[in-house]
Amino acid sequence: MKKILSIIGTRPEAIKMAPLIKKLENDPDVESYLCVTAQHREMLDQILDIFNIVPDFDLDIMSDRQTITDVTTKALVGIENVLKELKPDIVLVHGDTTTALCGAMAAFYQKIDVGHVEAGLRTNNIYSPYPEEFNRQAIGLIAKYHFAPTEDSKENLLSEGKKNNIFVTGNTAIDAIHMTYDENYSHEILDWLGDNKLILLTAHRRENLGQPMENMFKAIARIAEEFDDIRVVYPIHKNPVVRDTARKVFGEKDIVKIIEPLGVYDFQNIMARSHMILTDSGGIQEEAPTFKIPVLVMRDTTERPEGIKAGTLRLVGTEEKNVYDNIMSILKNQSEYDSFKNATNPYGDGHASERIIDILKNC
Ligand code: UD1
Ligand code: UDP
Repeated sequence: MKKILSIIGTRPEAIKMAPLIKKLENDPDVESYLCVTAQHREMLDQILDIFNIVPDFDLDIMSDRQTITDVTTKALVGIENVLKELKPDIVLVHGDTTTALCGAMAAFYQKIDVGHVEAGLRTNNIYSPYPEEFNRQAIGLIAKYHFAPTEDSKENLLSEGKKNNIFVTGNTAIDAIHMTYDENYSHEILDWLGDNKLILLTAHRRENLGQPMENMFKAIARIAEEFDDIRVVYPIHKNPVVRDTARKVFGEKDIVKIIEPLGVYDFQNIMARSHMILTDSGGIQEEAPTFKIPVLVMRDTTERPEGIKAGTLRLVGTEEKNVYDNIMSILKNQSEYDSFKNATNPYGDGHASERIIDILKNC
């Protein structure tokens, strides 16, 4: 029986690996284990609780305002100890976080095969997103199995000279949405909204911290002040640096409703009922198109060009004017708004985890 160790550390990894971890746990043909670095603590636990996942190993490494080096050193040492004790046949990592890179590196040092879930996303600029583009390229060098979500991501891997074990599976983010979406959902925020339109905001990227984030927030504050029938809700990331900027721009004025991070069940159901999404998140770019809602990506680059091509995402940068003008234009122009509704989600059909497990069992 194959011994498979999944390693996760942050909120998005937990959400996108949850469907796979649940299926691995229930599969009689594999021995499945989970190690969490807890690079994120509260935001990770929120997701583990919702999906009822209990880790076998918890490294509990998070510290306040941690640097990439803090996370890397603690995760690498902690994961190595787990690998020496457990001796898995395969290590699974997801995406591009520091936890994922450390999982792959620690496995490489122990000469254990690595499976990379959500492989092949690229901007080819290692400073954008930072440090994630470097992380995923480096994981790609180590991984034996590449689970690419789309044909485009497979092409990226082929163009780097990788030839073997590249599988297009769809993105497990869509599997997760199938587990959380509820047609009969209700929440106090939706009651509070009444007939007003909801703009859902998230922002946290390391390369956007400071001035870019301040610019984005200023644009959004202007929009919130100018429209009577729009309410902006911001489930704010736990990062204190993000919170400093939000406090600085939105201040005590009640123009943007800032709330604590939502559990994924609440977030995805509220997202499904939003009028527009403003985000610098990676995962939300994959999820939101399911609900045919305009997604404005407040970043200079995206590794998710499929969504741009499909017309479900628009890259708007982080300059105040550009962010403001794009939101304004879509809100004021119905045909422009409707163009987002005609697109279909290019990121999968909700069965990516099954495909990955079939491949793992037969490799
Ligand atoms: C990390 C990932 C990023 C991912 C993001 C998802 C890296 C380098 N970055 O970035 O790819 O998109 O997670 O959200 O791996 N904090 C808490 N509680 C929590 C989580 C975070 O207090 O539950 C605070 C801590 O002060 C921590 C800080 O947020 O030091 C930053 O966390 P960190 O994981 O280092 O970076 P993120 O920006 O969250
Ligand atoms: N999300 C959540 N609660 C929130 C905000 C986001 O559960 O308050 C979910 C969202 O549905 C998506 C993931 O968190 O699946 C995105 O995480 P994040 O933005 O932290 O990271 P990224 O996707 O940028 O790596």
